[in-house]
Amino acid sequence: MELLSATLDRVKPSPTIAVTTKAAELKAAGRDIIGLGAGEPDFDTPQNIKDAAVAAIASGKTKYTPVDGIPELKQAICEKFKRDNGLDYKPSQVSVGTGGKQILYNALMATMNPGEEVVIPAPYWVSYPDMVLLAGGEPVIAPATLEDDFKLTPAALEAAITPKTKWFIFNSPSNPTGAGYSRDELKGLTDVLLRHPHVWVMSDDMYEHLAYDGFEFCTPAQVEPALYDRTLTVNGVSKAYAMTGWRIGYAAGPEKLIGAMRKIQSQSTSNPCTISQWAAVEALNGTQDYIAPNNEMFVRRRNLVVSMLNAIDGVTCPVPEGAFYVYPSIAGLIGKTSAGGARIENDEAFATALLEETGVAVVFGAAFGLSPNFRVSYATSDAALKEACGRIQTFCAGCV
Ligand SMILES: Cc1ncc(COP(=O)(O)O)c(C=O)c1O
Repeated sequence: MELLSATLDRVKPSPTIAVTTKAAELKAAGRDIIGLGAGEPDFDTPQNIKDAAVAAIASGKTKYTPVDGIPELKQAICEKFKRDNGLDYKPSQVSVGTGGKQILYNALMATMNPGEEVVIPAPYWVSYPDMVLLAGGEPVIAPATLEDDFKLTPAALEAAITPKTKWFIFNSPSNPTGAGYSRDELKGLTDVLLRHPHVWVMSDDMYEHLAYDGFEFCTPAQVEPALYDRTLTVNGVSKAYAMTGWRIGYAAGPEKLIGAMRKIQSQSTSNPCTISQWAAVEALNGTQDYIAPNNEMFVRRRNLVVSMLNAIDGVTCPVPEGAFYVYPSIAGLIGKTSAGGARIENDEAFATALLEETGVAVVFGAAFGLSPNFRVSYATSDAALKEACGRIQTFCAGCV
C-alpha cells in the first residue's frame, strides 16, 4: 500500500519558503545574499504587546482555553470589526486560530466537497490554490493583469463563476502585488456576487492596516451589507503588529460556518497559544500609535524600490496601494541572456540567475500565478533595498 495520501499529489510545497531556504543555504556557504523574499515586517513586536504576554505567563494564563479563542479576545475582535470596518459581529460569530493561515484552511476544510470550485484572482497568495486542493476542491484562477493594476475586473469575476463555485477569495491589499481595491472597484465585484447567491466570500484582510497615500481600506461585507450572511471576514495580528511568530489569526462570519470551523480545530490543534491570545488582546485593545510611523517607513521604501525598478529598461513596476510588496513585470527581458550566460526564458529563470549572479533573492511570478513578474518584499532596511535594487539594475543592464 502506498504510504502517502493521494491528496498530497495535488499540492506542492510553498515556493516562497523554497526561495528563503535556498537563499539561507547560499548565505551559510559564505555568499553575500540580500533576501527580498520575506513575508513579514522587519521591526520588532511592540513592547506593550510583549508585556501583555509576560503578564499572562506570570499570572498563570498558560493552560488550554476554549477551542476557538478566549472570550476577552473574541470581544476585542468584535470591537475591532465595529471600530475599523463598521461591521457588527457577536462573539459567537468569531473564530480565533493559529494564524490567518489556519483560519483559511479550517474554512475550506469545513466547506469544500469534491468537484466544488473556488475562484482565486491571480496573482494570488501562494497558499490559496493548494489549500483548496487539500480540501478536495478545485481552484479556478481568474487573471488580474498588469493593465488593470493587478485588480480583478467584474467581467473576469463573472466569467470565472460557475454553478459549482462555492467561494470567491478576495485579498486587498494583496500579497504579492500590494494592490488595494477602492470602494468603487470593490463595489464592482460585490455587484457581480449579488447576482450569484450561491457564492460565498472569503475576504482576506490581513494587510488592512498597511495602506498608503490615504488609501481607504474596505472589505466586502462593509461595502455590500447584503453579502454579510455569506461572507467570512478574515484578519490577523501578524502583519500590522509584527507578530508573525505569535501565530494568531481570526475571522468573523455566520455562526453555522464558525461552528464548523471550530469542529475542525477541535480535532486538530485545539486552541491557539494561550499566551499569544492574551498578547493579541493587547494588540487590538492597546495603542495603535505605532502603525502610522511604520507605514511612513514602508511608503518611503516602496517609493525607493518602485523608482529604482522603473528606471530599468524592460521592467515595469506599478505603484501599489498597500502591503509591503511590489510585483514588477519583466516582459521586456524575456528571451535575453544574462551576463553570466543564463537564458531568461521565464520569470523562474530570471529569479534563479539573479540569485546566482548577484546574490539577490526574489520570488518568481509563476509561484503566484501571473508571469512574467517577480515579487519584491520591501520589509527590509533602506540600505539593503538600495543595494539590492542597484544589483538588479546592473543584472538587467547586462541582459542582451
Ligand atoms: C495574504 C495573506 N493571507 C494570510 C497570511 C497568513 O498570515 P498568518 O498565518 O501569519 O496570520 C499571509 C501571510 O503571509 C498572507 O500574505
